[in-house]
Amino acid sequence: MTPKTVSTLALVLAFLAAPLTAAEPPALTLHADRPGPAINPQMWGVFFEDINFGADGGLYAERVKNRGFEFPEPLMGWAIENPAGTGIVEVRNDDPFNAKNARYVRVRSSGSAATGLVNEGFRGIGLHGGERYDFSTRIRVRSGEPVLRVELRAPDGRVLADDRLRRLPGQWGKVTATLRPASTEPQARLFVGLEGEGEADLDFVSLFPRQTWKQRSGGLRADMVQALADLRPGFLRFPGGCIVEGFDLGNRYQWKSTIGPVEERPTMINRWNIEFKHRLTPDYFQSFGLGFYEYFLLSEDLGAAPLPILNCGMACQFNTGQLVPLAELDPYIQDALDLIEFANGPVTSKWGARRAAMGHPQPFHLRLLGIGNEQWGPPYLERYLAFARVLRERHPEIQLVSAVGPDPDDERFRFLWRETRALPAPLQPAFVDEHFYRPPAWFYSAANRYDRYDRRGPKVFAGEYAAHDGQPRTNNLRSALAEAAAMTGFERNADVVRMASYAPLFAHVDAWQWRPNLIWVDNLRVVRTPNYHVQQLFSRNRGDAVVPLTATGLPDRVFASAVRDPARNEVILKLVNASDRPVPVRLNLAGVRALRGPATVVTLSGQPGDENTFDQPDRIAPRTTRERLAGTGFVREFAPHSLTVLRMPVR
Ligand code: AHR
Repeated sequence: MTPKTVSTLALVLAFLAAPLTAAEPPALTLHADRPGPAINPQMWGVFFEDINFGADGGLYAERVKNRGFEFPEPLMGWAIENPAGTGIVEVRNDDPFNAKNARYVRVRSSGSAATGLVNEGFRGIGLHGGERYDFSTRIRVRSGEPVLRVELRAPDGRVLADDRLRRLPGQWGKVTATLRPASTEPQARLFVGLEGEGEADLDFVSLFPRQTWKQRSGGLRADMVQALADLRPGFLRFPGGCIVEGFDLGNRYQWKSTIGPVEERPTMINRWNIEFKHRLTPDYFQSFGLGFYEYFLLSEDLGAAPLPILNCGMACQFNTGQLVPLAELDPYIQDALDLIEFANGPVTSKWGARRAAMGHPQPFHLRLLGIGNEQWGPPYLERYLAFARVLRERHPEIQLVSAVGPDPDDERFRFLWRETRALPAPLQPAFVDEHFYRPPAWFYSAANRYDRYDRRGPKVFAGEYAAHDGQPRTNNLRSALAEAAAMTGFERNADVVRMASYAPLFAHVDAWQWRPNLIWVDNLRVVRTPNYHVQQLFSRNRGDAVVPLTATGLPDRVFASAVRDPARNEVILKLVNASDRPVPVRLNLAGVRALRGPATVVTLSGQPGDENTFDQPDRIAPRTTRERLAGTGFVREFAPHSLTVLRMPVR
């Protein structure tokens, strides 16, 4: 069959498979001479939320849980050690080190055996043998001349590193020690206590690896950030997710409480602590050590556009659905205005000065802002509009992202899309945030979802998606290929789908609430899932414009998209063969005179049920080869259960 010369939309529509005669292999023509829509350079990004111990116990490298004794059970995570039986450990809040986190412990020791407390960390404390760990605490000696004893211990009690701190301050002051454990231990404990006669108050007990991301003191886990950096994300969405909404408004995320000195950021229960009865996580709280300043900094480090999502005056509609009356919405809108000033304002402005005081006089170049997370119904529309009226007027440079609920196909979704499109153009958001958590079969059908989408009005932000396969839901190759299939549809329709991010991003293997997730971690290791590799292959082969395709006879479960990379003068084909047999495809490069050399071929393949685990982290990983292709028209076979990226250098 000879493809006709047709418009881009018609070419996209031609992608719908047509029947073939038996002898002919299916064919794909890549119209390299007629580039289609431009691709948003920020198309493929990441969605971060503090779920599954994503921040506290995860990305935020603090190893001490409940470091300020601010959990409702003040000694949760701590065990008192009083070997002589004559010491005392008590929780107090009078004359505190910091009024915003008022609790501390008073320790009295009357002998040489230390009296104190042991912290269990976040499902243990991960230590790498030979590396440095920075211990610190606030302390105030009340009587005597006690010595502060610090130990890192293995689960069997062996001391891996220790120190004794003397000449302690009589007023609240910070003392520090560097500990270097002799061996690697994923489940260590931290002991802190007093030796000798005396009494002292302790607060904000902290332990950080020296090797954080960019060696920032009090920073982020380097291996986890590296996994993000390797994705080369176009944007970073933060801080969620439902955490933005809170189970009630008192529990909503308030960015202003998450900046400034970490000791002053008030601890709050994490909404995922109690969300799922089958996965209760009673020790899940937010220290906000990873707060909005750090999120902006991380975006900058990653070269990703920051995309904060703000509460719009609605608590989570799966929980209380509490609403702020419209007449009382101003403080919420003011938070949005202040956030823009915090990110972009001059150092002479109130919030720009706060940013500068934290160490970043230069602006963070905020251009995107989400109003609400996964909201739905008329109350959302009213609140979105209240924000949009002010923000359009005051900050036309900021592109707004609006919600359409949790379901990609239901009436809540249709209602909000309809109403959003009907808004006067200046009040329309730039992006509408669609969420889809669905079985693999849904993702296969979603490969054509955007081919006939209404191209007027706001663009699509596929802001949260993951293929949910099996029970328990698993990050296997089957789910990854289903996502890849849908992503070819996003890419072919890059004029409609302008941004996309998998969700959720991180999960601690011993503390998750939700699955599947893009990246699994324990206290020392990171596992990149097959789904991660799919995201990475799209992100790192993104191109600047769609190369339209004409497909004839593609079998069921075979999907493709193509882009061009002008910097390397390459045409990039992504082809998903989610079927269980090899598929030969005739590839025609229209408008290409010749290939300049061998193609780079990256293949992700295996068995559909294959997963990456801590023992086998690279079971499903991309393999790169070089392949000499036979000219500009040739037949190539694509492996079963595979995603192939074919980078063809063209003339
Ligand atoms: O990604 C997990 C949750 O899924 C998000 O917090 C929420 O937005 C969605 O319901």
